[in-house]
Order: sequence, then structure tokens, then C-alpha cells
Amino acid sequence: MPIIEAHSLSKHFKRFRRRPGLVGAVKDLWHRTYEVVRAVDGIDLSVERGEIIGYIGPNGAGKSTTIKMLTGILVPTAGSLAVQGLVPHKDRYRHVRTIGVVFGQRTQLWWDIAVIEAFNLLQKIYEIPRDEYRQRLKKFNQVLGLEDLLNIPVRKLSLGQRMRCDLAASLLHNPAILFLDEPTIGLDVAVKASIRDFIRETNRQQGTTVILTTHDLSDIEELCSRVIMIDAGKLIYDGGLRELKERVDIPRRLLVETIFPINASKMMLLLKDYRLGITALDPYRWELSFSKGRVNLPQLMQLLLDTLEVRDLELEEPAIEEIVRQIYDRGAPGDAR
Ligand SMILES: Nc1ncnc2c1ncn2[C@@H]1O[C@H](COP(=O)(O)OP(=O)(O)OP(=O)(O)O)[C@@H](O)[C@H]1O
Ligand SMILES: [Mg+2]
Repeated sequence: MPIIEAHSLSKHFKRFRRRPGLVGAVKDLWHRTYEVVRAVDGIDLSVERGEIIGYIGPNGAGKSTTIKMLTGILVPTAGSLAVQGLVPHKDRYRHVRTIGVVFGQRTQLWWDIAVIEAFNLLQKIYEIPRDEYRQRLKKFNQVLGLEDLLNIPVRKLSLGQRMRCDLAASLLHNPAILFLDEPTIGLDVAVKASIRDFIRETNRQQGTTVILTTHDLSDIEELCSRVIMIDAGKLIYDGGLRELKERVDIPRRLLVETIFPINASKMMLLLKDYRLGITALDPYRWELSFSKGRVNLPQLMQLLLDTLEVRDLELEEPAIEEIVRQIYDRGAPGDAR
């Protein structure tokens, strides 16, 4: 049974529309007009236990709104939703005991008390057995390097320090599902790496299901095997990261560097049987671009190695940023699943 299941899930907001000028303001007093924002507009989701899902989309796509419905903070306008068999906003008390939530934009911890006191409070709230709590805290301290932070009030932590504490806090009660809304926003490379490692380890060791929204596509590349993409409230892709890359035809590039200079006509002649874009970067360096599946790559590389004095060969796969940009720009690459 899926751990998260949603059918035609929607959240529409009514937004008060202000009319301009004094006349408009007076008119607004008598008759208010509203516009409806379809933040989430009829999405189907099915997530299995133990998956790490990358939930992506442009600004305002509806990602945070979805997370808020899944965590029980917002009540859906329409559709059905079950998380571990519970309806999040109806069974809030039972629901929150089985989930962990981190919103990268703001902390879930108490601003004025020391980190360790916040953790201790969470232990009481979630009724975490003492031994379990001690063990987990010890492990989190090690993996996330919290030791020096525990006695500092939350408000005095830097962003990266706070994020590590927030992440630890969200996992103290060993939830089955972890919701992370932009957990790596604004963090430096080292902290990002430690947070990713921690998420990966938790998933592996505890079987924690993870739903992760991010604009940092290297988060996705490193953690997620499945990507769900939303745009203007609608799902536009749901599937594997590799399939996503394959569905979008962005050329791959082979960079060839030679020991001796090569002139263009020689290169053209050599490669005339291949469907390639050929660009000279300089007489020693050439860029060959081609669509995946159109060119027999081992054969091409063999030919280059046999006929030219090759110093270096480098294959560039399209970056996920490029793929996602193309999809955002022109809509879905085929039907969503
Ligand atoms: N409480 C609210 N009242 C009215 N409109 C809202 C409310 N919350 C969100 N919206 C609107 O719903 C849409 C989706 O917002 P949401 O925060 O879910 O986007 P997002 O995908 O998380 O974007 P971002 O990448 O910028 O975080 C936006 O147009 C936003 O303005
Ligand atoms: Mg958001």
C-alpha cells in the first residue's frame, strides 16, 4: 500500500483584488472582488515507503502548498488525500507523530531557548523513550556536528547551523516520512553535503520516506531516483531522473583534444559518416555534439583514437539544470504519468 496517496488533490486560494486609486478603494468598500489562485490543481500522487522524491517546479508552482496539505497545515479544497491511511488535516494529532517537517525558510525550533532545551522539549512532546532519545541525539551530534551548538539559543545560530539543528529536531521521534521544503537554501557547499549525507543515511538505515522540494538540482541528482515536477498547480512529470533526461533531447558533447593541430577539412572528412555538430574551439580542441542514440559512441571514439593523436576525450552529459529549464520553458515532455 502506498504511504502517500492523493487523487485530484487541489488547493484554491481566494485572493482579494484591489482596484487602483481612490475611486477603486471606495468601490472596494461596497463590493469586493476576488480572484481564485489555483495553487494546486488536481494532482494525483502515489508514493511508496522508502522512496526519496524530488518535488520540483518553478517559483509559485504549488510545491509548498502541496507539502502543507500533506503535513496537515492546509485543508485541501477538493480531492482525496491519505498519508499512512490518515487524512492529515483531520487526524492531525496522530499524523504529526509519524512525520518530520523542515521548512528551509523558517525554523520549527523555539527562538529564545538553547538548542538542547528545544530537543528536550520535543522528547517530552513526542514521548520519545529516554534511551532511544539519548542514542539518536548522540548519533545526530556526530553526523551533523551539533556538539558545539547545543547550548546556544536558536536565534543566535547561523543559517547553516540552524538548518542542521532543524533537521535533527525533525527526526528525533524517528518519523516514517520526512518533508523537506528547500532544506539546502542558502547553505554553503560543505553544509549542503553533510545534510545530503544525513538524509541519505536516514533513508537507508530507517527506511524513511523523503519528500524534498528544492531549486538546487544537485540535491535531486544526488538523492532522488524519482522526480515529480509541478507547474501552475499541475503535474507535468512523474518518473525516473534518468528517463527525464532521456525524454528531453539535449545534445551530448564529446570534447576531443589532440596533441597536434588538426585543420577543419581533415576533421570534416574524417567524420563525414557521422551525424554530428562539429565545432573547432581551437586547432587542438574540438567539440562534437550529437543526440543520444543517433551516434554509435564507442565506434566514434575508436575512430578518433585510431586516426588522431588524442590527448584527451571528455563526454559531457547535459546538466539537469538545462533539462529542467527546457521543460519549464515549453511544458511537459509528453504526458505526466
Ligand atoms: N495563503 C495564500 N493565499 C493566497 N495565495 C497563496 C497562499 N499561499 C500560496 N499562494 C499562492 O499559491 C501559488 C503557489 O504557491 P507555493 O508557495 O505553493 O509555490 P512554490 O512552488 O512553493 O514556490 P517557491 O518555489 O517560490 O517556493 C502562488 O501563486 C502563491 O502566490
Ligand atoms: Mg515554496
